[in-house]
Amino acid sequence: MTAQRIDLYSDTHTKPTPAMRRAMAEAEVGDEQQFEDPTVNKLCAMAADLMGKEAAVFLPSGTMCNQIAFRVHCRPGDEIILDYTAHPINAESGGPSALAMAQTRALHTERGIFTADQVRDAIRPSRRHSPSSRVLSVENTTNAGGGSVWPIEDIAAVTAVAREHGMATHMDGARLLNAVVEGGTSAREYGQYFDSLWLDLSKGLGCPIGGVLAGSAEFIDQAWRFKQLLGGAMRQAGIIAAAGVYALEHHVERLAEDHENARAFSRAIAQIPGIRLIFDRCETNLVFFDVAETGLDAAEVEKRLRARGVRIGAMGPTRMRAVTHLDINAEQLGEAADILRDVIA
Ligand SMILES: Cc1ncc(COP(=O)(O)O)c(C=O)c1O
Repeated sequence: MTAQRIDLYSDTHTKPTPAMRRAMAEAEVGDEQQFEDPTVNKLCAMAADLMGKEAAVFLPSGTMCNQIAFRVHCRPGDEIILDYTAHPINAESGGPSALAMAQTRALHTERGIFTADQVRDAIRPSRRHSPSSRVLSVENTTNAGGGSVWPIEDIAAVTAVAREHGMATHMDGARLLNAVVEGGTSAREYGQYFDSLWLDLSKGLGCPIGGVLAGSAEFIDQAWRFKQLLGGAMRQAGIIAAAGVYALEHHVERLAEDHENARAFSRAIAQIPGIRLIFDRCETNLVFFDVAETGLDAAEVEKRLRARGVRIGAMGPTRMRAVTHLDINAEQLGEAADILRDVIA
């Protein structure tokens, strides 16, 4: 198979940098199950502080952050309200029903950003034959909504409705720091509206693994029970937590470059006949486009690109997504746009 020189498939495809690997190799470690790993403890303290919460827990993935949060918040028969494109509905193997024993209620939006009225309309009246509306979950940035950043006023409005109805509020922060860097609202400001929120280390931050879930001390205590139950408790995990500490210290501000690169790429491909950008604004590092008017389907375009060393994922019959990240520079993106033009010509 042709080597993929320019990998725009996902920001999860970054490789740890030499400096990050050094930090990992030199990490002080201990038994994290016993809270004796100083590097894990440091990462959790940094993440809790960043998100303005009492405590945090280090988990192997963002998926586990979502699932454990829902498991803590929900009882069987509860309902989680979220956008129809949200990751827990589409890409967590049915986790809400399997693990939290809760069902999901999908809101339909353009960019993954719903309104207070939509939330109000979705909340169930309190009746014994209805599920109980228990959690409101917000994804920031929105993935399938084109990497859009939630404005803080909208967050305040939707979470106020949830709280009026006694619901818990949760933020999926797979790309929270992209939102922070782009929108200028701090993670702490976002955090005040949520009972639980997390950030992913293995996406734009460039770590090989992990997410950090934050909340009140009581919430994190409960989260630890489910971490243990699901086999997510680890031992000398400081080796991987060190990558997270390094990334929080060195890889946050640079996310702005990924956003600039994504905008330049979207402008370049918008000039290619047959390519249509799906979202009118490219806010962060995700560029969605449609290839229907080229007469090719997305799988064929993906195959042709791969043969030329460029990887861009098909996200539907004619929809594709290109993601900028730490391992991609402006020159490579220019080359990728030229190759895209060639392969559909
Ligand atoms: C919005 C969103 N939430 C959650 C996840 C899951 O994160 P992880 O891959 O770390 O499990 C992803 C991963 O792509 C995502 O995009």
